[in-house]
Order: sequence, then C-alpha cells, then structure tokens
Amino acid sequence: MAIRLGDIAPDFTAQSTAGEIRFHEWLGSSWGVLFSHPKDFTPVCTTELGRVAKLKPEFDKRNVKVAGLSVDSLEDHNKWACDIEETQGTALNFPLLADPDRKIALAYDMIHPNADATLTVRSVFVIGPEKKVKLTLTYPASTGRNFDELLRVIDSLQLTADHLVATPADWQDGQDVIVVPSLSNEEATAKFPKGVTVIKPYLRTTPQPNR
Ligand code: BEZ
Repeated sequence: MAIRLGDIAPDFTAQSTAGEIRFHEWLGSSWGVLFSHPKDFTPVCTTELGRVAKLKPEFDKRNVKVAGLSVDSLEDHNKWACDIEETQGTALNFPLLADPDRKIALAYDMIHPNADATLTVRSVFVIGPEKKVKLTLTYPASTGRNFDELLRVIDSLQLTADHLVATPADWQDGQDVIVVPSLSNEEATAKFPKGVTVIKPYLRTTPQPNR
C-alpha cells in the first residue's frame, strides 16, 4: 500500500555500505531522507549518489540523516561505490541499503510495476524526528533528481514545524513567509514582531521568524 504523508515510516533492518542498519534506531531523533534509485552501475544513479555525497554537509547542518536504497546486493553496492568515488570526485559518505529481497522496496511502495516490474523508481521520503513521513516524491528512472530542491523543502518543513507559517512558491531560506490563515491579524502581529504585511485578508506575509 502507498505511504501517505503523516504515516509512520516503516521500520526495517538492512545491510548497508555502512554496516547493518535498524532504521528507526539509526534515525534516532534526527530527520531522515530515504531515497531509492533503480539500479547500481547506471549513469543517472551514479551522478545522483555523487551529488548527495557532496551535499552531505548541508544535510548534516539540518540534522538530516540520508540513506539510499536499491534492490541490488551489498556486494554490488560496495563495488559501485568505487566507481562513484572515481567518477564523481567524492566517496560515498552515507549508507546505501541493500534490498535484494525487495522487502523495503515493497514496504515503501518503491516498485511501480507499470513503470518497471522489478526495479525501484526514484522515490524520496523525508521523515520527521517522530518518524512520520513529511514528504514523498516519485521521479522516473530517466530523470535525475534536483537535490537542491530537496534541501529547500527540508528548510520549509523544519521552519513550518516550529512556526505558524507556510512558505510560498519558489521560496528560499531567508525570504518572507506566509502567516497561516488560522491566526487573526491581532494574533499574527503579536506572534511576529518583525511585522505582518496584509496583502489580502487571506494573504499575509512576515519576515522569516527564525532569522
Ligand atoms: C540510470 O540511472 O541511468 C538509469 C537507471 C535505470 C533506467 C534508466 C536509467
């Protein structure tokens, strides 16, 4: 069954390039990103894993643990890691989970049979510290993901988890945000001392409150 926003991310134990991982225990109180790729030793996937490795400091800064996954074996993952280091200019610095029996792929609905009967699609799950799924994304095998966009969404998710705001289209960290409609103007003015701009009664903005 498909995983929906607000669901508890399924727990599992798996072998990985960083040793055995008990997923919930490994996440601890951090945020998490679990992302699947279709297959080891493929070009788009190679660039994606290199990109995530390069962005590791950005995930760390946001207290996010990242794990990749495909239905390949740990042996293949370890061999492919050498190619990733050689071609992408960075070593794999986050765990790549092996799922040869597809247990995790099935639990997370990462195999979409009408796209490919056996391989995982490019799924992304962002998981909050309480283990609830905060975001899901699905890309086809032919399109590499934009991991800067993933960081942007994580910034929004973390901001809106702590403050009564939402983020507008194409928002970037540091830009003005939207005051949630459930607050009255009086409540909003009290909560956001940097000021509230009323554009329409339902469209009010304020400078980013955690800046
Ligand atoms: C790739 O990562 O390049 C890829 C994987 C599976 C199908 C098509 C492309």
